[in-house]
Amino acid sequence: MSAYDEVYRRSVEQPERFWGEAARGIDWDVPPPVVYGEGRWFPGGRLNTCYNALDRHVAAGRGDQPALIHDSPVTGVTGVRTYAGLLEEVARTAGLLRDLGVTAGDTVVIYLPMVPEAVVAMLACARLGAVHSVVFGGFAARELAVRIDHARPKVVLSASCGIEPSRVVAYQPLLDDALEQAVHRPARCVILQRPQCVAELREGRDLDWEQAVRAADPAPCVSVAATDPLYVLYTSGTTGSPKGVLRDNGGHAVALHWSMSHVYGAAPGEVFWAASDVGWVVGHSYIVYAPLLAGCTTVLYEGKPVGTPDPGAFWRVVATHGVRTLFTAPTAIRAIKKDDPSGNFAKKWDLSGLRYLFLAGERLDPDTYHWASDLLGIPVIDHWWQTETGWPVAANCVGIEPLPVKPGSPTRPVPGWDVHVLDADGADCPPGTDGAVTVKLPLPPGALPTLFRDEPRFSRSYLERYPGHYLTGDGGHLDEDGYLYVMGRIDDVINVAGHRLSTGSMEEVLAEHPDVAECAVIGVADELKGQLPMGFVVLKAGAERDPQEIERELTALVRTRIGPVAAFRRAVVVPRLPKTRSGKILRATMRDIADGNPYDAPSTIEDPGALADIAQAVKGT
Ligand code: COA
Ligand code: AMP
Repeated sequence: MSAYDEVYRRSVEQPERFWGEAARGIDWDVPPPVVYGEGRWFPGGRLNTCYNALDRHVAAGRGDQPALIHDSPVTGVTGVRTYAGLLEEVARTAGLLRDLGVTAGDTVVIYLPMVPEAVVAMLACARLGAVHSVVFGGFAARELAVRIDHARPKVVLSASCGIEPSRVVAYQPLLDDALEQAVHRPARCVILQRPQCVAELREGRDLDWEQAVRAADPAPCVSVAATDPLYVLYTSGTTGSPKGVLRDNGGHAVALHWSMSHVYGAAPGEVFWAASDVGWVVGHSYIVYAPLLAGCTTVLYEGKPVGTPDPGAFWRVVATHGVRTLFTAPTAIRAIKKDDPSGNFAKKWDLSGLRYLFLAGERLDPDTYHWASDLLGIPVIDHWWQTETGWPVAANCVGIEPLPVKPGSPTRPVPGWDVHVLDADGADCPPGTDGAVTVKLPLPPGALPTLFRDEPRFSRSYLERYPGHYLTGDGGHLDEDGYLYVMGRIDDVINVAGHRLSTGSMEEVLAEHPDVAECAVIGVADELKGQLPMGFVVLKAGAERDPQEIERELTALVRTRIGPVAAFRRAVVVPRLPKTRSGKILRATMRDIADGNPYDAPSTIEDPGALADIAQAVKGT
């Protein structure tokens, strides 16, 4: 039996023993008396996640080691914080939050660009046992408002602006607009002033970050229960209202710490760079928590893979900071490949220290896999996971035993994850047959215990379809060697440049337009971003305005309501939508038409001519 097989077998046959051993990698205030009980990991245990990420490393003599490198080509600034320095800043920021009345269990919304203060803010919340909710900067004010109303934060931590290569994004107007739309009122907003665009602070509501933190006294760690929440992270579901994925403290710390050595093969003191954004789960897990829990140096990169200033941007960061492990999305590699197909920019830098390239966020297409492997000459590792799972479900666990790679597959299930591909009746599909990818319960530590303030939706979305299993929402198959192939979502979630978006929420926006009678949004294959959304609308009878003008209004509306990150640029007016006789819109067939795939008109179709309308509309855009 191989090392991987042996570790995997132990994890599913004796999960309590397995995770009990892994829990020794974490410093507990009260070691958990039981590993698993009443559906939760480590009940009765007490700890502080920030202590485990910072204080314990300083106590163990790592105070002078870099903890956080901020590399920002968009501002031309690079800064390094040691473990001791980061601890001091986090403790003061926690002191400020405490002075503002934040205590364990309170929520704090963090709406910040890729600045070190974003990491500081998350850890400061963790230090107090407060629950953070980070909102990605590319969302529009309304999305921020929805999250503020659901999370009901005591404090909002934000900045004057974010910086995109093409423009400075002023955050203050977005925050003001969101707070006007929201019903909930946070007591205070703390605003980080950046020189690129200084915000006008509102008397009585806003505090200047730097001044306020300077004036605060450091706060100690608050001991919390392992089962207490650490954060909520909203992610797209199939409707307009996002799901608040909850993460606990104990299971999260144990799983992430374990994953660093076993999945990523990373050791304390090494430089680990996840080129993502703190607004996504990859940023939460592998920019902030996991590398710090493991005593690594993490890199926070404020830039893009291309254009800041060139397609050598990633290779510069790797060479300059001695990155050993790089983690990004396939779309970023495709962007680099597009601008530098021969890899000439990579050749300018010394990449000899780079050991692994990990990719996740969307399916890794074999072309991109081969291009990156040939260019770098190191293992390129596809791994599959989601906001809900918090850490990888399938991967080539190089820290246990590297397995042979099969391009197109994220290899085999990671220990702890009992993956089953099920057919419509709930039976395991034979090898090679596509079905719903599920995980047999219990989920391992680190996976979501529930949805924030919405237990019924948690059961409905994930547990009811296949009793005893967690429904991932992805479709795919296992092959005869147990390798998993994840082929795409089986629901209305799409993946645009590694960003997870809901077509349902875009449809809700299109339906708001006064001339729209009905609509459908689908994800269309795109060479660079994987998928791009495309909207089809039927106008109300009597709407006689220029369809092109309406199409322009619709793209602007989605940008204003959901945000630029939706990359919604194609809306077309069609005479009718293809539907079944019972009125269900045939989105899968529409997708095939738009992608240029062969398709059969389903026998249940109401009006076959509607398919020709879609083909015509796609051709015209
Ligand atoms: N704040 C404000 N606006 C943002 C933003 C942020 N944090 N992030 C993205 N946007 C905007 C962009 O400026 C762009 O706006 P535009 O329509 O005015 O051009 C829009 O949202 C789409 O952004 P993006 O998805 O970044 O596309 P792009 O065309 O600018 O760049 C890539 C393409 C492939 C380079 C880019 O998508 C990328 O780096 N992807 C990696 C994704 C990733 O890290 N995913 C996390 C999972 S690991
Ligand atoms: P998110 O919750 O934003 O991380 O998005 C998770 C979704 O992205 C998954 O449900 C998949 O649909 C997709 N995804 C992530 N990683 C992979 C991968 N390695 N292969 C295929 N799909 C992936």
